[in-house]
Amino acid sequence: MRITTDADITHLITRAADAIEDLVRDTPDAVLGIATGSTPEPLYAEITARASRGLDLSRLRITCLDEYVGLDARHPQSYRHYIVQHVLEPWGIDPEATVLPTGDSDDPDAAAADFERRILGLGGVDLQILGVGPNGHIAFNEPGSSFSSRTRVVGLTPSTREANSRFFADKAEVPSRAISQGIGTILESRHALMLAFGEGKAPAVRAMLEGPATEDVPASALQKHADVDVYLDDAAASLLADR
Ligand code: GLP
Repeated sequence: MRITTDADITHLITRAADAIEDLVRDTPDAVLGIATGSTPEPLYAEITARASRGLDLSRLRITCLDEYVGLDARHPQSYRHYIVQHVLEPWGIDPEATVLPTGDSDDPDAAAADFERRILGLGGVDLQILGVGPNGHIAFNEPGSSFSSRTRVVGLTPSTREANSRFFADKAEVPSRAISQGIGTILESRHALMLAFGEGKAPAVRAMLEGPATEDVPASALQKHADVDVYLDDAAASLLADR
């Protein structure tokens, strides 16, 4: 794991955007795995700015980590909507060139299995963007998820529903289930880029990087990933012993 810390998030975003740009220049039809959430939004905006200056992203293939079960695809909080808004439209990518889970399927288990099959069909993920939940989750793999788990329907913990309720008008609207790439699936990405900003993430960051690799902290599985860059602002890194 390579860990970069900086007081200024802009510097970290530049480094992360450089990794995406290098990949696209080298492999124009690479597979990029998008993470949702507020953390990577400035990264996607930076890539949008580079696209407006001529970076061609049109052949990139896009996938994602997870999706709420039961939200209509057009719901403003569906992850499909997020990806259309922050990635596909501003980057000029055809929605047909994407592999996203169908959260509003009548059969979510089948939709999860289909999502996993289609990720494998892409030949895997070249670069996976990741964030971490305050309880140490990655994608929607909550504490206790097996490190060998595959894409499946998962239940969301009360703390995750609470953390994500800030995006919904009413807490009761936050879905209780999601389709999530498994930890085993995520570990197969060829390169991963983990972003964590703010002091609210500091305990999860410490457990992810300096604690034992344990299923109690899903993100600690990244210690077993072959090629990970971690970008932390000083607040997120503030509880690390080794800085
Ligand atoms: C969600 C997503 C994760 C994301 C996490 C952190 O629950 N499923 O993929 O990394 O929250 O989100 P944020 O960046 O908004 O803190």
